[in-house]
Amino acid sequence: MTQQSNSHHQHWGSKFGFILAAVGSAVGLGNIWKFPYITGENGGGAFVLIYLLFIILIGLPVMIGEFVIGRSTGRSVCGAFKHLEPKKPVWHGLGYLALITGFCIISFYSVVSGWVIGYIFEALRFSFSSFDSPETAQNHFGNLISNPYWTITLHGLFMTLTAFIVVRGIKDGIEYWCKILLPILGVILLILMTWGLTMPNAHEGLIYLFRPNFSELTFSSVLVALGQAFFTLSIGMGVMITYGSYLKKDINIVSTSLYIVLFDTLVALWAGIAIFCPIFSLGMNPAGGPGLIFHVLPIVFQQLPGGYVFGILFFILLGIAALSSAISILEVPVSFLIEEKKMSRHKATWLVALVAFWVGIPCALSFGLMSKVKWFFGRNFFDFLDYISSNIFLTLGALGTAVFIAFVWKLKPAFEELAKGGGKVKKLFALWGFLLSWVCPIAIGAILIAKLMEF
Ligand code: PHE
Repeated sequence: MTQQSNSHHQHWGSKFGFILAAVGSAVGLGNIWKFPYITGENGGGAFVLIYLLFIILIGLPVMIGEFVIGRSTGRSVCGAFKHLEPKKPVWHGLGYLALITGFCIISFYSVVSGWVIGYIFEALRFSFSSFDSPETAQNHFGNLISNPYWTITLHGLFMTLTAFIVVRGIKDGIEYWCKILLPILGVILLILMTWGLTMPNAHEGLIYLFRPNFSELTFSSVLVALGQAFFTLSIGMGVMITYGSYLKKDINIVSTSLYIVLFDTLVALWAGIAIFCPIFSLGMNPAGGPGLIFHVLPIVFQQLPGGYVFGILFFILLGIAALSSAISILEVPVSFLIEEKKMSRHKATWLVALVAFWVGIPCALSFGLMSKVKWFFGRNFFDFLDYISSNIFLTLGALGTAVFIAFVWKLKPAFEELAKGGGKVKKLFALWGFLLSWVCPIAIGAILIAKLMEF
């Protein structure tokens, strides 16, 4: 790939490599850990329907927009907004918002990823075989995450691993491994889903997941669905701008984004089926909160023939999916420090990882030593950071990006950038322009304003 002017950037080896890295960023804990548990907390089918609408009508256009900004400037998130609109500093704020959001997300993301690593060890130690009821699985998980040594050590381990890859560069590490491991994760999820579907009363899980019951949908759930659409697609905080900046001009951004969105959505739905069918079959509570997959899946593995092998594999692959997302989050502030503060990649990476580790500590303690600390609008620190970054900051970031492209930078140069990758379908571009200029700002703006008025 041709080197862009700011050559500190990593470069994708190929189009396929880029798609995998972007899918690697999108597919992560958001699909397999977060989607099922927030669906459980927000009443099921109606929530899923709204989430899917947001993905198509808002998420996809914003993702295309981020790739366009990234590729046309070839810069990291702050540099990109500065480059496109040097005279209006207020828009540069979008870049700084992205950096803050990244720190918030990586802090709690790394804590959950630490739990996943811990569960690889649990699976290897055959702990799951002692779970004779859903309650024992739940208690075991509760005991582990309230243990500060367990959570902080694993959080530190995951952050170190992430930093290690970001320091080394992404092409030979993550791009290579994603190619091999993401398809295996897909296959394992398919097996778990099929197994879930054959359990007694599995259809109740499907009904819960797919039959919309709007009476259960609250207004807060609409904002959560919007935030989740952004979180799962890794948009609203500059990841796709940064990844887009490593893109070749001849790549068709529209079709590539479609693949990424499609794959990400499939994984979330498969995970939803794999988890809700057993939940209803075993008579468990779907609103199990952040511990949901850790309570349910070990029980499923126990019942599955050869289940412990699946258990080990599943948590290893989930750890890898988390890693390929975490490096994309870390890459945003790292590329900023290299480009704007002229730091070396080495120094920037370890600095960002260290700060994120410290911010992550109160998250790691939120289910143990600090579980009673609920100064943050009635939430513990972990839930607060998750809520504010996923639902407020990502939403503001995506809104700002849409308005910026449509009304500040203007659509014409954006169309020209899109057309470089072939696919000169005028009608499609016009549809994208319409969604970005009107549907995104009005829908996101209305949801945010209505939410603010609730306070
Ligand atoms: N999309 C990732 C996931 O689903 C999380 C993520 C959010 C990654 C924001 C980058 C930026 O797990």
